[in-house]
Amino acid sequence: MIKIKKVALFTPLLFVLFSSCKTESKDQKQVVNYAEELHSYAQPNKSVIKHLNLDITVNFEDQVIDGVATYTIDNNKASEIILDSKFLDIVKVEADGKITEYELGEVNEQLGQPLTIHITEDTKTISVYYKTTNKTEALQWLSPQQTADKTHPFLFTQGQAILTRTWIPIQDSPQIRITYDATVRVPKELMAVMSAENPKTKTADGVYSFKMEQPISPYLIALAVGDIEYKAVSERTGVYAEKSMIDKAHYEFSDMEKMVVAAENLYGDYDWDQFDVIVLPPSFPFGGMENPRLTFATPTVIAGDRSLTSLIAHELAHSWSGNLVTNATWNDFWLNEGFTVYFEIRIMEALYGKDRANMIALIGRQDLDDEIESFKNEPNRTKLKLDLKGKNPDDGMNSIAYDKGYLFLRTLEETVGRDKFDAFLKDYFKTHAFSTITTEKFIDYINTNLLEPNKVTFNTEEWIYQPGIPSNQAIISSDKFANAEKVLKQFLSNDTIDASITKDWTTLEWVHFIRNFPDTMTTEDMARIDKAFDLSNATNSHIAMVWYEQAINKDYHGNNVDQNIEDFLIRVGRRWYVNTLFKAFKNNDKIDEALAIYEKSRGNYHSVTASTIDELLGL
Ligand code: BES
Ligand code: ZN
Repeated sequence: MIKIKKVALFTPLLFVLFSSCKTESKDQKQVVNYAEELHSYAQPNKSVIKHLNLDITVNFEDQVIDGVATYTIDNNKASEIILDSKFLDIVKVEADGKITEYELGEVNEQLGQPLTIHITEDTKTISVYYKTTNKTEALQWLSPQQTADKTHPFLFTQGQAILTRTWIPIQDSPQIRITYDATVRVPKELMAVMSAENPKTKTADGVYSFKMEQPISPYLIALAVGDIEYKAVSERTGVYAEKSMIDKAHYEFSDMEKMVVAAENLYGDYDWDQFDVIVLPPSFPFGGMENPRLTFATPTVIAGDRSLTSLIAHELAHSWSGNLVTNATWNDFWLNEGFTVYFEIRIMEALYGKDRANMIALIGRQDLDDEIESFKNEPNRTKLKLDLKGKNPDDGMNSIAYDKGYLFLRTLEETVGRDKFDAFLKDYFKTHAFSTITTEKFIDYINTNLLEPNKVTFNTEEWIYQPGIPSNQAIISSDKFANAEKVLKQFLSNDTIDASITKDWTTLEWVHFIRNFPDTMTTEDMARIDKAFDLSNATNSHIAMVWYEQAINKDYHGNNVDQNIEDFLIRVGRRWYVNTLFKAFKNNDKIDEALAIYEKSRGNYHSVTASTIDELLGL
């Protein structure tokens, strides 16, 4: 008998701090300590999922995924197991193959509903039959028109931070780790790929089988379905993309193998066997998403000159920081992203040298100053360790975790010396592989393994628990950026200047040059620069984005820039770009222009971008 009743809303502080969960592995008992969790209803200390078998059909006509999620569970003599679920249509639930009772709790706008399933202390598996709905936030269903090739529809998922529960009922906390296998049925013209062992060609019947044998956190389960093909870069790296993009992607990411080698030389073996990238349609809401074995990437990274590939280094670095050693809660998000930016920049340095690495670091350094300025009335938001109680984890997903996290680690590296720091990091990844880490555990670890043995005093707590930037921060500099600033000054002081002086500039120098236009700059100055460099028609997405931002700031309308901005915002759904431009409209009292464009573009955005912009524009 199935009973659906409303249960009282309870705060999801349900993982008891340092409560223990005993899991038996052969003759040895292992104790897992779960940290306090704000964003999941699961109670893993009572019963926790260990393996997922997913069996689903992807129906493009109705835009529905339906099927069954079967979990093998670790049952600590529990009478129930609680999953997270949001906007899912639960059809029926079984325990060890027999129908069982379940309750769906009250809806919380951010967290969804606890799905409480009745089990007995002997229950070993549970199966949830379900369907996604048209509110399912993780999924974006694209029409052929919204793809590169314009002939077939496309679907992709985005799980981080708490969206996996909107397409699979699951214990959706980063502290949970599961292995999975899946059977996915798609229209036979399309191919399905997941964050798992993947096919390299289409099957005849549209049925695909997947296996992820390393335990991963639920936010890393991912699926993409489209008319895509595969092209190998090396034995263990390669790209998936639509036909019209595959060669471009292959060219752009030709250094993937070198990146993996550099990363392994720095911090130990790549533990996931395969490292592929799928280039998604332009509405993908992030630059990249580190889904294990298969990074999801925006096509805006394909510049034609390999100039934006630090993004690939970044997602690759997450194979260690994030996927192997995972932030225990979203309050510890900086442990994922700060380490990853540090690692990304080290990979870039290993491949392309210090100049390029420092330019990337300085772009982030400026982002950090801007972010701190934007939080000047909420200084608590500039702390590395967050307090997201009652908030969506998205609130913490800003430059602080990335760029303050980076600056902290770089300062630490410069204080203890690179050799010691590298040895420490290598050991850190090895010791914590396939487990989760809290900020507090990290502080303990660093004291015991880096600072005390080397007799170094360091203001770790100030960096992590205080707002702003401590005064011992590493100073980053770049001659190339200093030169770009000089060129800008000369240009503005009206000296006639030879535009060929910029002929060897890389994307990063252009970005720096444009982002440093002074407040005093006039629309005539903008026109002069545009005439010399045609920036309004830049094809590099990063250069275009920062130029558009300045055009909005400086009220510049020449050289078709308005139309280009509108086209860009309609085509591209990458949240960072879209948000930057809509913010510029808003900050310059151009809300009407923003709304006029948003009316045309919103339908192309994934829910994470749309909800950010809705909030920004007060909708
Ligand atoms: N894991 C993030 C993306 C993310 C963060 C998704 C939080 C959902 C919630 C990814 O690794 C990332 O940081 N992407 C950046 C890339 C950049 C820093 C090179 C992006 O999308 O811009
Ligand atoms: Zn990242």
